[in-house]
Amino acid sequence: MSIIKLNATDSTNSYLRTLSARENVEDYTTVVAKKQTQGRGQMGTVWDAETSKNLTFSVYKDVSGFQLDSPFYISMVAALSVLKTLQFFSISRLRVKWPNDILSADKKICGILIENVIKQNSINASIIGIGLNVNQTEFKNLPKASSLSILSGKVYNLDELVMVILNNLKGYFLLLKDGKYDLIKAEYETHLFRKNKPSTFKDVEGLMFSGFIKGISDSGKLLVLLEDNIIKSFDLKEITLLY
Ligand code: BTN
Repeated sequence: MSIIKLNATDSTNSYLRTLSARENVEDYTTVVAKKQTQGRGQMGTVWDAETSKNLTFSVYKDVSGFQLDSPFYISMVAALSVLKTLQFFSISRLRVKWPNDILSADKKICGILIENVIKQNSINASIIGIGLNVNQTEFKNLPKASSLSILSGKVYNLDELVMVILNNLKGYFLLLKDGKYDLIKAEYETHLFRKNKPSTFKDVEGLMFSGFIKGISDSGKLLVLLEDNIIKSFDLKEITLLY
């Protein structure tokens, strides 16, 4: 497993995708960049992280030998690996906001962007991009963002954090390879943000509605108990959790 450290790149996810198109990339190859000029978030958003203080990195994971029930299990193990790491560093009140934002209380400390490499109609590898707010202590105009330093008052070693996340990823991917789907989903749902709490959502047309998050489906959709007592499943493009 190699760790490639860059001063700057457009996006560590893009870097790994280009590399893997050119040559064989070893499992768990990791690219860490001090600065991304075109950091990407979910749903076409921009990921802008303060240089050197935070972690922006991507991990190449070969999943060609996996019989995946659903690609969403990759999201789950990625989120759980970060969450377990933050627990190890004594960060409290951790939650996973579906699909894979990591929050402490209701503030976001980590975003994850998973991009799959498809070969012959199946997922050959996953590029797991992680943006973790670590030593940044101010988030102007981002009232819903936080960092490990804000939460604990400590300063963290970025290399050590990467190593612990990688170890946790390896552990969870072993479970996934063993087909421990129920265990992974149950653990993910334990940490699900706003589970069983009255919540307000917005649909694709911008209409607000209320419901209770009950869990996730086997294909990774969000299960919401609506006011008419029916549980409906939503995919990422269909719903935004407001509060
Ligand atoms: C999100 O919350 O929308 C996901 C953010 C993911 C950001 C990380 S930073 C490292 C990797 N490279 C990218 O361009 N994006 C991911």
